[in-house]
Amino acid sequence: MGRIAGTDALAEAARILQSGGLVVVPTETVYGLAANALDAKAVAAIYQAKGRPQDNPVIVHVVQIAQAKTLCRAWPPEADTLARAFWPGPLTLVLPRASHVPDVVTAGLDTVAIRVPDHPLLLALLELAQLPLAAPSANTSTRPSPTRVGDAVADLGDKVPLYLDGGPCRVGLESTVVDVSAGRPRILRQGGISAAQIEVVVGPLAEAPHSDVPRAPGMKYRHYAPRVPLRILGDGADAMAEARREFARPAFLLSLEHPGAGPGVVRVAARRDGNAWAKALFALLRDLEKTHDAIFIEAIPEEGLGAAVMERVRKAAKS
Ligand code: TXA
Ligand code: MG
Repeated sequence: MGRIAGTDALAEAARILQSGGLVVVPTETVYGLAANALDAKAVAAIYQAKGRPQDNPVIVHVVQIAQAKTLCRAWPPEADTLARAFWPGPLTLVLPRASHVPDVVTAGLDTVAIRVPDHPLLLALLELAQLPLAAPSANTSTRPSPTRVGDAVADLGDKVPLYLDGGPCRVGLESTVVDVSAGRPRILRQGGISAAQIEVVVGPLAEAPHSDVPRAPGMKYRHYAPRVPLRILGDGADAMAEARREFARPAFLLSLEHPGAGPGVVRVAARRDGNAWAKALFALLRDLEKTHDAIFIEAIPEEGLGAAVMERVRKAAKS
């Protein structure tokens, strides 16, 4: 199994990355599986370790706006406004790609996704290594994203020599992906910054595209699934009783306000506290799949991070 370490291992992490290796890194959203974004072979090893489909591009992490600009052909005014408002933070910008960004990073697209993460350990590593770091979430493909270093270790084991432990992730689900490469900004994936927060700084977003237009390519794949069935809990009075008839040991992720009680109930947070649900969701899925034979989740209002939470839940429930 790979070694788990903290700040003391930054120099070693930088050396591994500079020589084309992989390191698991903490971010404020979820743990990432990082490699030198300018080394096509190193990035290919990310896909291999995750079992990730080749047509799903990865996000490049940089230390500040100036470094982001070196990876794209154009830096539109909307990109500048959004980067200044939300970086470092859980916002990824899709920009026209510079020609030296390898195909394997962008899955051959003419755009590249970039963000400045908000985690002191990763920012220190980016400074030290002096490299842009390609990093998808550090889970095996289809699994819930890792929000604790142990979750990444559980999935990737000895495929990665070094895991940097930065503690539990503050946000708990992935960055919001916004396309600023053409016309009005458009959300491709909901995430740690809400649509409302983005509209405050850049005005109305473009409509989500119709389903025949490619969005973030990753959105079409099975995702976030625990090893046991996951369902959205119906709101009928007997929904929990029905679940208990169908499964021997169902878990119920409920808000503080939900009247349900009894075995398997986990109180997550208030219905409208989307931030708390986001932070808890993936860790709960990974913990409860070990002790329960199904997971039922109450639907929460799709406001703020509640929208990103419900988007993840629907995908995980579909698979
Ligand atoms: O918070 C996050 O974004 C985390 C941490 C590690 O930074 N990373 C993450 O990466 O969630 P990943 O690979 O699990 O998801 C990246 C998403 C995918 O849906 C992918 O299709 C999309 O970003 N994406 C990447 N490059 C793109 C591009 N050029 N155009 C459109 N979508 C892109
Ligand atoms: Mg992912």
